Amino acid sequence: MNKEWWKGAVIYQIYPRSFQDSNDDGIGDLKGIISRLDYLQWLGIDAIWLSPIFKSPMKDFGYDISDYRDIDPMFGTIDDFKVLLHESHQRNIKVIIDQVYNHTSDQHPWFQESMTSKDNPKSDWYIWVDGEKGKPPNNWLSYFGGSAWEWCENRKQYYLHLFVKEQPDLNWRNPDVVNAIMDSIKYWLDIGVDGFRFDVVNMFYKDERLRDDPKVEGRQSKVDYENYYRVFENDRPETLLAIEKIHDIVNQYRERVTIGEVGSPMGLPGYFLYTMPGRLDLAFNFEFKEINDYSPTKYRKLVQDTEKLYQSIAWPSYVLGNHDSKRFTERFKGLPDKKEKLEILATMLLTMKGTVFIYYGEEIGMEDVEIPFEKIVDPAGKNLWPDYKGRDSARTPMQWDDAEFSSFSEVEPWLPISADYKKLNVKAQMSDQDSLLHFYKRLIGLRKKFDAIKYGTIEFVDIDPDVLAYIRSIKDEKVFVIMNFSEKTINLNGNLVNEFKEILLKNKDSKTIDSIIKPNEVRILK
Ligand code: GLC
Ligand code: CA
Repeated sequence: MNKEWWKGAVIYQIYPRSFQDSNDDGIGDLKGIISRLDYLQWLGIDAIWLSPIFKSPMKDFGYDISDYRDIDPMFGTIDDFKVLLHESHQRNIKVIIDQVYNHTSDQHPWFQESMTSKDNPKSDWYIWVDGEKGKPPNNWLSYFGGSAWEWCENRKQYYLHLFVKEQPDLNWRNPDVVNAIMDSIKYWLDIGVDGFRFDVVNMFYKDERLRDDPKVEGRQSKVDYENYYRVFENDRPETLLAIEKIHDIVNQYRERVTIGEVGSPMGLPGYFLYTMPGRLDLAFNFEFKEINDYSPTKYRKLVQDTEKLYQSIAWPSYVLGNHDSKRFTERFKGLPDKKEKLEILATMLLTMKGTVFIYYGEEIGMEDVEIPFEKIVDPAGKNLWPDYKGRDSARTPMQWDDAEFSSFSEVEPWLPISADYKKLNVKAQMSDQDSLLHFYKRLIGLRKKFDAIKYGTIEFVDIDPDVLAYIRSIKDEKVFVIMNFSEKTINLNGNLVNEFKEILLKNKDSKTIDSIIKPNEVRILK
């Protein structure tokens, strides 16, 4: 097996608007991130992935890009980015940037030109379709509400936007578009980024015939797009060929990683498809996020299904949260043993076979912040409220300490800071050895130290339906992970206690290798 750096790595996602503000405008920026790199190095992560930092009118907070090659002044300059890259590398932290090639901003010069007429040089760079005003070409819906088609008076035509209307979809069937995108990938590779996260990578090509999406029989979701199988905008066969092209370009450079956000309706088989040899290195496996009932049997089944499918053809990944979903801490809000439950999920994530992602703030147990309607800024939330309240609640400022605005900024931030920040913050947890933060740090440290955890095989052990237990091993190195998801005491009955004698990590004061596993206990042994 090739031990590429990203295999088994811990990748930390930064939502740049919310990490650290350096110039007191209430919005996080690159200089802010630079000032927090020492913290990330202390935590021990291998890489950071930055949500988009490029020029953007911010209709979708950076996922609407108007210049692929420049940094938005709100975040800083290209020189700031180069400093960030250098300072990260000094600390052995790799830097992954977020590339959005399914669509641009409507302010991108390409679209500005494309929309002027039917016969300008860029007229075919987006998906334009003849039609009659008021009668969209087909039934496709935007993920952010309403039709996916917008009428353009200039051209007397519709253009496609799978997200907001200010995010027109690029026409990947035009070779000039593909070349321009490949050039921009090369541009960042030459600058020295360590990899890319590709936004909605499975949507690049749409059905050439623009067929209507079939309806899901019997479903009546208030969020309209959920009532359709989105088969004609997702996973078209041509997309995989484009992915292979991207692979070939990135592969000319050393030690870079490609990560796909595959929003495939297929789920797991979809992630696999995009990471077969010659395609992407990784695709987020979002399935942990979908398991809402804190069930060890479900987690186990998911990992087993993943292993069975991936074998050693593709390398898996796992995620508990990101900027598009609720934080996983939400499930345990208000529970007395919340911290222990978070420790259990953190252990599962960070001892898993695969590359793992941490969403900023997860390491201290940050929670979603309820945002009143007037303060919602996410277009998805504004358009679909109250059926869907959007994604702002998981994008609130990082909680650094108990000073005003949590030292995120000197002024009121763009989204409210959690009311609990005076208690729940990095500084408080740094000075408490028993904190969740220190627990994360220890887990990350173990992952670094033991190849068994980083690269090893995974084999589940049957102890009790409420216990998730597995052995990770590589050559002679073996690590045994036990997590008791329940409130009951479990007797190991001598199970493997003779083989594994040394405790590497625990969250209870189990002093000896006793056979009793306490409620909510985590134990990692070798
Ligand atoms: C991806 C991003 C999301 C964004 C959307 C449109 O799903 O993760 O934040 O809104 O693509 O670019
Ligand atoms: Ca700022």
